[in-house]
Formats: sequence, C-alpha cells, structure tokens
Amino acid sequence: MKQRLEGKVALVTGASSGIGRATAVRLGREGAAVGVNYRSDKDGAQTSVQEITEAGGRAIAVGGDVSKEDEVKEMVRAVVEEYGRLDILVNNAGIETERPFLEMSLEDWEKVVAVNLTGAFLMCREAMRVMVGNGGGVVVNMSSVHQRIPWPHFTHYAATKGGLKMLTETLALEFAGRGVRVNAVAPGAIATPINREKLDDPEQRAAMEKLVPWGRWGEPEEVAACVAFLASDEASYVTGATLFVDGGMALYPSFEGGE
Ligand code: BGC
Repeated sequence: MKQRLEGKVALVTGASSGIGRATAVRLGREGAAVGVNYRSDKDGAQTSVQEITEAGGRAIAVGGDVSKEDEVKEMVRAVVEEYGRLDILVNNAGIETERPFLEMSLEDWEKVVAVNLTGAFLMCREAMRVMVGNGGGVVVNMSSVHQRIPWPHFTHYAATKGGLKMLTETLALEFAGRGVRVNAVAPGAIATPINREKLDDPEQRAAMEKLVPWGRWGEPEEVAACVAFLASDEASYVTGATLFVDGGMALYPSFEGGE
C-alpha cells in the first residue's frame, strides 16, 4: 500500500475495538506512528498495537478517558513524548445507550455528552495546541448518520453527533488560516461491537439492512479508508466536510429496499 502518511504521528481515541481499531491499523499501515487510545480495554488496545507493529508499523497504547481534562493532557503529552510531534487526531471514542426520552436520567444524558462531545472538545483543544505549534495538522471527528437522521430513544446520542457537526465546521473555520483541517466521517450501520445486539438478532439485523439503500452492513475498514483519505495530503483542500460512509442510509432514511 502507498505510504501516504509516512512521517506523520496520529492519535486515535477509542482504538481498542471497532472503527477505532480499524482506523488505527489503517493509519499505521499507511506509515503513521499511532497512539492507540483506550479507556478500560487495555488488552484490546494491545491487540491493535500488535496488528500495527506486526505489519511493520509503529504504535503505542495510550490509556485515558477523553472526558477527563487531565487525562486528555496526559495522553497528548505521552504521544508527543514518544514520537516528537502530533499531526493527526481521530476523535473516535463514543458511547451510546437507548433510552425512551421520558425515562432518560440526567446521568444517562451527561454520560453520552461527556464522551461523545466534551471528549472531542478536550481532545481537539489539546491536540490543536500542538498542531498549531507544528505549523499544521488534521482532525477527523467520528460523527454518525445521526448527525442528520433523528432517531427515537437516541436523543442524547443524536444531539452529540449534531453537536460534533458544528464543532467540526466551526473549528474548520477558526483554524483555516493556521494549517489545521477539521473534518468528520459519518458512519451508518457498521458491524462493530457497539451494534453486537442488533447483529446477533436476525430480525434486528435484517431491519437495519432495509434502512440501507445498499442493503448491507458496513465494515469498519470501509470507514477507516475514508479517515485515512481525510488525514492524508490527498484531502489538502478539504475542511469542514462530513463524509457519509453509510451505503446511502442518510439519503433516504425510510428506504424500504428494492426498485
Ligand atoms: C450507531 C449504531 C446504529 C447506526 C445506524 C450509529 O451511529 O452507533 O448503533 O446502528 O448509527 O442507525
């Protein structure tokens, strides 16, 4: 594979599984040295690191909770200490819960907001301080089709993804003169651990496929490929954009399949 990211240093949050792992592995294969962040699944992070190093790349596991300011500072510091710089931040860490709105507790709300939105804010601020000092960099925020598609019982989740869209666009504008591009990727139904319950139940699995014009679930690697493109110089004129990686799901949410 062409080494589009040779000499670059990346930090991917939530990279112990799913889209985060696939992204870390892809960036590593494209030549970047990768900080593989995890919060609790250290073994998962080690597996991601191993996949990268076995393919000839460089990676370290970096523990820390994206919603905690001091831990965010420590994560960025650890990557800069190890590799001397930071060029690419992928804000992938995210959580979701399903809650009918009238039963949603303040705690339910705050947990999802803390990781998905406040986490992205804290990570961006810390990483972009380094990037601006380096003369530039790239941020890719992991949004979702739910930055556009409303989804009952996902009020908190959808609100964070809508928030990520504006975080992306506002930062893209504020840093346009300082060499930092800020974009988002918006995955749809991807076969990852976050969707295990739906994937394991044939009915739910098929119901989701009906909502996707391409009629199938996506693979984490299909999302990772888009992150790698946005992170590379091939996307040198792309900022403030959201790239939907969803088999067409966000085009027509009530799609019922067929011709
Ligand atoms: C969510 C998944 C959901 C998908 C499509 C994603 O953002 O994480 O749980 O299946 O959107 O609705």
